[in-house]
Parts: sequence; structure tokens; C-alpha cells
Amino acid sequence: RFRMKNVSQNSEVTIEAAATQAPTVFVYVAAAFAALGGLLFGYDTGVISGALIFIRQSFALSTFHQEIVVSVVLVTACIGALGGGPLADRLGRRKILLVTSLIFMTGAIVCAAAMSVTTLVVGRTIVGLGIGFASSTVPLYISEVAPARVRGWLVSLFQLAITVGILTAYLVDYSFARTENWRWMLGLALIPGAMLFLGMLVLPETPRWYAQRAQLDSARRVLMRIRGTQAVDAEFNEIRATLQQAHERGQLSDLLLPEVRPALVIGVGLAVFQQITGINTVIYYAPTIIQSAGISSASGAILATAGIGFVNVVMTVVSMWLIDRVGRRALLLTGIAGMAISLGALGYVFHLPARAGGIAEIAVFTLMAYVASFAISLGPIFWLLIAEIYPLKIRGATEGIAAGTNWAANFLVALTFLTLVQTFGPSQTFWLYGVLAVAAWIFSYYLVPETKGRTLEEIENSWRLKRHEPRPS
Ligand code: BGC
Repeated sequence: RFRMKNVSQNSEVTIEAAATQAPTVFVYVAAAFAALGGLLFGYDTGVISGALIFIRQSFALSTFHQEIVVSVVLVTACIGALGGGPLADRLGRRKILLVTSLIFMTGAIVCAAAMSVTTLVVGRTIVGLGIGFASSTVPLYISEVAPARVRGWLVSLFQLAITVGILTAYLVDYSFARTENWRWMLGLALIPGAMLFLGMLVLPETPRWYAQRAQLDSARRVLMRIRGTQAVDAEFNEIRATLQQAHERGQLSDLLLPEVRPALVIGVGLAVFQQITGINTVIYYAPTIIQSAGISSASGAILATAGIGFVNVVMTVVSMWLIDRVGRRALLLTGIAGMAISLGALGYVFHLPARAGGIAEIAVFTLMAYVASFAISLGPIFWLLIAEIYPLKIRGATEGIAAGTNWAANFLVALTFLTLVQTFGPSQTFWLYGVLAVAAWIFSYYLVPETKGRTLEEIENSWRLKRHEPRPS
């Protein structure tokens, strides 16, 4: 297991000062606006399940077309994340977030106004790009403006916004279901899109991006503005010193450097594990799973689904409360263990012959335990870690690779879930996800570092230092 160390004992005092920096209202506002990108991510991925029933009727869609309308978003989100990361390194985090908001707004309008299935697919393609850009840039932006002491929960605002977006989508779908108005369901994303645009118009670029582009005056000016004090020397000097030590030139070949590779393995590994442990089979297919567990009424299934969405939000808040106190590792390992156990139990429930009586309720309860375990661990902590562990010079590109991998894995699970259930049955499918959760636990136990309370520069230096040291046990 990795342990972080400072570059030298002398820098400890400086780092200490920067790490204990108090947050200002400005930072909260900046983080909250950027997190709207997460709200759109959650809303746009969640809204389609309810809207699809009516879209199918409007355009007489074949199964193939339905699959395209749903999954094209995952494909273009992957492309958007991979492309958005390097663009955020080159053009700045703020500019990319402005572009992201414009993409979301355009996508919402095209979807809502679509008169043919082709236009609808074009609209969903645009929305996917926006989601991809948001997923590689929002956590990055927040982590680079947040003081170390509260960075964990501030970056986790992104995950909270995703879960609120999903829950809102369920509720919007439900309230427009009677009028069958799928255009409103898809078009409402225009509102958070416009809010994100207005917010990013007035919010600044991150000081770390300016420093990386050698615009040191701007870096210092923004740092003073977001910290609400002139006394920013400790943090400013630390950013500069770390940049001077960096071997990276900000090119693709840097990914193979010994100080970048382990962090890349962690980001990509967690990206895959976040998805292949099955979270989106529950998020996307909850009503179907619940119905097959024995709650046959549609309204009962919808209610239980909303309950699951609610648990997801509440437990993300619990995680945010704990993340800067108990640390990332403790939460991650506890949560993944909970996921493995509840997946095992879920497989067992579906294994039972009769799904009558209390069994259906037990299934719903187990689903909730699973989502709760995800919400305190792999949900927020994946997005947080990939915004913390990469060197500044190539932070956008590396975070983009991790986020892009997450979307590719999401797509893979979406493609295979129904086939797995048909071929092996639900029990074996959930057990398979359970075994993968055990693998995720082992991976995290041995590889994931503790980043609580450390500045981004301290984390970056610790990778560099490890190069010259035997690997800690
Ligand atoms: C994942 C999404 C998932 C969501 C559920 C996010 O962290 O990346 O794929 O739908 O959590 O809350």
C-alpha cells in the first residue's frame, strides 16, 4: 500500500500552511456552479429511461433504434472525455466548461425539437459530448480551486450533483408521463445548461492552470481572489516549485514516465471497477429488476426506483461529510466491501424459487444497500481521486483518459447486461458483479493512496519521490 511523502522535510512547513488554508464563500460558489455539469450528466443519462416509452410511440422505433438513442450518449461521452481533457490543458478549464454548457444547451434544444429519429440521434450525440467534457473537466476545475482541507467534499459535489440529476430525471419523467410529453423531459436540461454558462462567465480560470501556462501574475491574482486574502505565498510558491520539478513536458509520451504510470493505472483501474461492479444496471434498469423480483405493479416499481435514487443522494451526502475526516481509503474499502456483500445477497434472493411474500421487499432493500455502499465509495471517490493524483502538466489529459475509460466500461456493461441475464439468469449475473467487487477491493487495498488533507502539489511530489525509493509495503 502506498504512503505519501513530502519532497523534502524543508517544504513541510509550506505545505502545512497551504493544506490548512480556510475555504472562502467564493470557492463554495465556484464549486457549486461547476458541479452543475454533474447535474446535467446525471439528468441526461437518467431521463431517457422514462422518455423512451413515449419516443418509441412517436417515431415507431425499432429495438435497434431504441438502443442507439440510449447508448449513443455513452459512446460520445467517451470521445468527449478523451478529447475534453487535453483541450482543458491547452485552452483552460474555464473555457472548456463554457463550451460544455453551450453543447448541453444545443443538445437539449435539438432533442426537444426533433421531428425525426435521425435528428434525435444527432441531439443525443451532442448531449453525450457535453457529458464527456463535463466528466473530465468539472472535477479538475473544483480540485484546482479548492483548499486541500475541504477538497474531498467539494470535488464530491460533482457526484452529489450527478445523483440529484438522476433523481430529478426520475421525478420529471414521472410527472410528464401522464401527458406523454417526452420533449419537455429532454428539453428541461436547457435550464441547468444556461445556469452553468452564466456561472462560468463570471467565475475565474484556476490558478494552477495559469501557473502551468507560465502566467504567474494571473495565477497569483486569482489565488488571492479565491482565497480572499493577500497572504497566498505558501500555496503560490508550492505550485511554482512543483512545476519546476516536473519532468513532464505535457506530451502524450509523458504518460509512460515512471512518475505518471502508477497514477494512470489507479485511475484507469478504478474507472473500470466503478462500472463493471454493475452500478448502472441498477440505475438504468431498476424498475425492470424490481418487477422481476416480484413487485408487479408499475407504480410500485417506480416508487421503489425513486427510493433507490433518494438513497443514492442521501448516502453521497454522508460520504461528503466523512471524506475529509476519515479519508478516502477507509470509505472506499468499507463501501466496496458493502457492495460485494449486497451483490452476493441479491444473487441469493434471485436464486430463491418463489419470489412472493417478503422476498420482493428484501430484494428492494438489498438493492438499496448496494446503492448506498456505492454512494459512499466508488461513486464519489473515483471522480475525486482522478482529479487529485495526476501531475499538473498533464492533469487534463490523464483525467480525460480515466473518465473516457469509465464511459467505455459503462457502454460495455450496458451492452452485455441483458444478454448476461438472459443467458445465465439474474443470480449468476449479480454474483459475477460481486466477484468483480472483490477484485476492486483488492485492487484498492494495494494500490490506492490516501490523499486526505494533502495539497495537490504534495501528492504530485510523492509520485516523483517514489521513483528513487523502494516501494513501501
Ligand atoms: C457513475 C455513473 C453512475 C452514477 C450513479 C457515477 O459516479 O460514473 O455511471 O450512473 O455515479 O450515481
